[in-house]
Amino acid sequence: MSRLLCPSMMCADCGILKQEVLELEKAGIDVFHIDIMDGNFIPTFGMGLQDVEAICSISEKAVDVHLMTENPVRHIKNFIDMGVDIIYIHPEVDELPVRTLQLIKTYGGKAGLVLSPQVTVESMVPLLSLADYVLVMTVSPGFAGQKYLEFVNTKIKQLVLLASQYHYKVIIDGACSLSKIKELSKLNVDGFVLGTSVLFNKAQSYKEIVETLRKI
Ligand code: DX5
Ligand code: ZN
Repeated sequence: MSRLLCPSMMCADCGILKQEVLELEKAGIDVFHIDIMDGNFIPTFGMGLQDVEAICSISEKAVDVHLMTENPVRHIKNFIDMGVDIIYIHPEVDELPVRTLQLIKTYGGKAGLVLSPQVTVESMVPLLSLADYVLVMTVSPGFAGQKYLEFVNTKIKQLVLLASQYHYKVIIDGACSLSKIKELSKLNVDGFVLGTSVLFNKAQSYKEIVETLRKI
């Protein structure tokens, strides 16, 4: 499977972050996915700026930040300057999402648009032409270990269809288990955020799990 495999680093053992990053890099992942939360939009905090700096400096692989923060435009330049490649924003907490997505690209980054479970595709169509990546939340944002929300599958099919018109990549974020990844791969999505459902705290090594995923 040539789809993008994006380990969710808030699920890693942050006590040995450098070792985790190097092992995941060796295992052949594609993008490090870093969840950042402000304690307002999402009532918890995810990873910190030091984690982003560390991961960007340790690895040559691409890094994305999933900004679960109000008014994300304030933080764009800081993350781009750290070496982040893709910045995902939640338009429901951004007064001017068009401006923010454009600013990400002005600074040389790739623009990511997040659709929370309750956000309709129809309401996002005006923004799709500005997105390089669309992150589809199949759980409520912010917490690992949740149950997959089956009703989101309709939106995934709609977004995959529209991707041929707007040329963004569709990435799935939330409760991506091996069986879900097999099921969703048939819908031609472009990638997956890998968390506790398939990658972390498992008996097999990261390398073995990534090899299994590549064979799908
Ligand atoms: C949700 C997070 C992810 C993901 C974790 O906001 O972006 O970290 O859900 O993976 P799972 O759901 O497999 O524990
Ligand atoms: Zn995320």
